[in-house]
Amino acid sequence: MELDTKYEWRQSADGSYTLYSKEYGECYHSLKDGALREALKKHVEPAFALTNKSHLRILDICFGLGLNTLATLYCFTKQNRVQSLEIFSPELDARLLQTLPHFSYPKPLEPFVPILLELIEHGKYKSSNISIELRVEDAREYIKEVERIDIVYQDAFSPKKNPRLWTLEYFQDLYAITSDDMLLTTYSIATPVRLALAQAGFLVYEPVVEGIKKMTIASKKRLALPLIDMEAKAKRSTSTPLRDKEQ
Ligand SMILES: C[S@@+](CC[C@H](N)C(=O)[O-])C[C@H]1O[C@@H](n2cnc3c(N)ncnc32)[C@H](O)[C@@H]1O
Repeated sequence: MELDTKYEWRQSADGSYTLYSKEYGECYHSLKDGALREALKKHVEPAFALTNKSHLRILDICFGLGLNTLATLYCFTKQNRVQSLEIFSPELDARLLQTLPHFSYPKPLEPFVPILLELIEHGKYKSSNISIELRVEDAREYIKEVERIDIVYQDAFSPKKNPRLWTLEYFQDLYAITSDDMLLTTYSIATPVRLALAQAGFLVYEPVVEGIKKMTIASKKRLALPLIDMEAKAKRSTSTPLRDKEQ
C-alpha cells in the first residue's frame, strides 16, 4: 500500500522507524532518542518502575503508530508485579490507523502486532488480563469519558504544533480523571507546559535517564524523583502556563 502523501517514513537512531507528519511539520518520535527507545525510556519503563499497583489503567495520549501501547504490552510480559492492564487511547487520524498494518514495527514489538491489527479493525482488544480501547476521537472529548487513570502517557505533537493538548484546562481535566497515586510521563520539558501542570495541581519532576534527552514526570503524591520547585520557577520565568483561550 502506498503511504499517504501526508506522511514520510523516517528511521530513528535506535534503528526503529517512525513517521514524519507534513501536516504538523514534526516526527511522531524523537529521531535522536530512537522511536522504540523513547517509548520505553520516557513512558513505559518509568510507569512500571514507579507504580506498585497490580492492576494498571493507562491513558495513552495519543495512539499514533501505537508504539507506547505495544511497548507497554512488551514490558507487561517481562515482569510479574502488574497482573492486569487496561489501556485507553484516543487518536484523531483515522487514515493513519489504516496505514499501520503496513508499518515496520521493531522486532521486540512484533509479537504484539496481531493485537494492533485487532484494535484497528474492532477498536478494542480483550484477553483474560489485558483490555485495550482505541477510539477515533479528539483526546479532549475522550478524556471526559474515562476515570480512575493510573498512568498518562502524554505524547501529543509538541506544544508549539498542537497546543490544545498541553493547556492548563486540559491538565485540569486530566487531574480530575486520575487516581491519587497516578503518574504522567512526557517528553516535553517546555516551561509553559510545566507551569500548566503545576497550576493544575501536579508535582513536576525532571528524572535523569541515561542516554536520552530530558523529560518530565508529573504526579499528585510525592515521588522519589528530582522535584522541580515550580513556585520558584514561576517567579523567575517570563513564561506563563499555556491556556485554552490562547488557542
Ligand atoms: C506524537 S504522535 C503520537 C505518537 C504515539 N504515541 C506513538 O507511540 O506512536 C501524536 C498523535 O496525536 C494525534 N492527534 C493530534 N491531535 C489529536 C487530538 N486532538 N486528539 C487525538 N489525537 C490527536 C496525531 O494524529 C498523532 O497521531
